[in-house]
Amino acid sequence: MHVKELSIRIKREAKDGRFQIATTIVFCLSIAFLVLVLGMVINDHFKKYVIYEDLSFSSLNAFPPQIFTPSQSPTQRCTQKCNTTSNRSFEEWISPKDVWHTMSDRELMWRASLVPRILDFPFNRTPKVAFMFLTRGKLPLAPLWEMFFKGNEGLFSIYLHTLPEFTYEPPESSVFYKRRIPSKLVQWGRPSMIDAERRLLANALLDFTNQRFVLLSETCIPLFNFSTIYNYLINSNQSFLSTFDDPRPIGRGRYNKRMGPAISLSDWRKGSQWFEANRELAIAIISDVEYYPIFRNHCLPPCYMDEHYLPTLVNKVCPNLTSNRTVTWTDWSEGGSHPRMFMRNDVTEEFLDRVRSGFNCTYNGEMRSICSLFARKFHPTTLQPLLRIAPKLLGFNP
Ligand SMILES: *[C@@H]1O[C@H](CO)[C@@H](O)[C@H](O)[C@H]1NC(C)=O
Ligand SMILES: *[C@@H]1O[C@H](CO)[C@@H](O)[C@H](O)[C@H]1NC(C)=O
Ligand SMILES: *[C@@H]1O[C@H](CO)[C@@H](O)[C@H](O)[C@H]1NC(C)=O
Ligand SMILES: *[C@@H]1O[C@H](CO)[C@@H](O)[C@H](O)[C@H]1NC(C)=O
Ligand SMILES: *[C@@H]1O[C@H](CO)[C@@H](O)[C@H](O)[C@H]1NC(C)=O
Ligand SMILES: *[C@@H]1O[C@H](CO)[C@@H](O)[C@H](O)[C@H]1NC(C)=O
Ligand SMILES: *[C@@H]1O[C@H](CO)[C@@H](O)[C@H](O)[C@H]1NC(C)=O
Repeated sequence: MHVKELSIRIKREAKDGRFQIATTIVFCLSIAFLVLVLGMVINDHFKKYVIYEDLSFSSLNAFPPQIFTPSQSPTQRCTQKCNTTSNRSFEEWISPKDVWHTMSDRELMWRASLVPRILDFPFNRTPKVAFMFLTRGKLPLAPLWEMFFKGNEGLFSIYLHTLPEFTYEPPESSVFYKRRIPSKLVQWGRPSMIDAERRLLANALLDFTNQRFVLLSETCIPLFNFSTIYNYLINSNQSFLSTFDDPRPIGRGRYNKRMGPAISLSDWRKGSQWFEANRELAIAIISDVEYYPIFRNHCLPPCYMDEHYLPTLVNKVCPNLTSNRTVTWTDWSEGGSHPRMFMRNDVTEEFLDRVRSGFNCTYNGEMRSICSLFARKFHPTTLQPLLRIAPKLLGFNP
């Protein structure tokens, strides 16, 4: 009996013990399972996080931040890894090296019209002169311009508006290398001419280091060396956009009553197409959405937009920004609708000297004998005599 009781108690205790072991094992297993599941979840999250960073970093490398699209979120998620990248993109942003882009004209004008409200530059800003060439193809007088620009890197930028089908690229050593902007067809005397000028201005405005903007044609030549022209423009407190009231039929006669009331006959002005603008005036020009449509609709031949739109616009919007004269000399003395074209035999030292210093004009409120910095129209055959005379007369570094 005593033994029987004992054996039963032992059996029961063994049963209880087994039960306890079983519950412990089940408990441990469920904890392990939980830990495993939790671990997997955390691990998964961690992996996702790491991969996201890697992706954003490698995608930054593969596709450098586009300067013409708003910055994407990966740049904002930058940590130390892409610190240099974001620095580079700031420099790229204030002074884009690549002038090519895929913006439409509307997008381009809007972007170029953005103006900083903090006037102190957070970088060393050496003001540059933007030379904007309106040309059909290759610049016929390019070797003269190459000579002109040589040794003045960092003080100028070049923009070329060409025929859209012109795709020639000069050698890398040329100042014109990769300076073509996205261009469209231009017809003389038509609104497309103004569109091209605005396109040049807007592209040049994207570089915040550009301070002065000169429009030049393929027949233009410089009349002085680079430093003289640079100082003349940079130090001038006004722009050089010619605007005057011409009472003749080829002036006021081209005014159309349907332009009123926005533009009255007393607002109407005429002037040379070849202008020079400071940043403020350039922004005023590309930002105009009020007068441009009126001109496009009502300034039709014999009214030519390139002779009236900018002179009238400036007179309406910011008359004090311009000196009312151009710095590009043209010989209209023979009359007619086209100025004189100079040929090979016309180019002599005496002739160039006369154009350089045969006039008086005001500059920053004082009389000066340097009035024109550029001259046109020079036929491609003038290149040889110009190259021969230039080093001596214009003080170019040969
Ligand atoms: C970026 O680099 C500059 C110095 O090159 C350093 O002072 C700055 O703390 C860095 N910024 C970040 C977010 O790492
Ligand atoms: C960042 O850009 C500034 C000029 O904007 C330059 O002086 C500086 O050296 C650059 N820093 C790095 C780390 O590239
Ligand atoms: C440019 O021309 C001016 C006046 O003719 C002269 O004083 C100056 O030394 C020239 N500059 C260079 C860099 O040749
Ligand atoms: C523009 O200049 C004239 C004098 O030439 C001056 O009377 C006028 O106040 C100026 N206007 C502005 C907006 O600066
Ligand atoms: C230029 O002409 C406008 C009128 O068209 C006049 O208000 C302005 O004072 C002139 N500027 C200079 C410098 O003569
Ligand atoms: C320019 O002004 C100077 C000095 O006032 C004078 O001697 C010269 O004849 C003038 N030149 C012209 C082309 O008017
Ligand atoms: C340009 O500077 C001259 C000389 O300091 C001054 O007489 C003239 O009023 C200034 N013009 C403008 C538009 O600031």
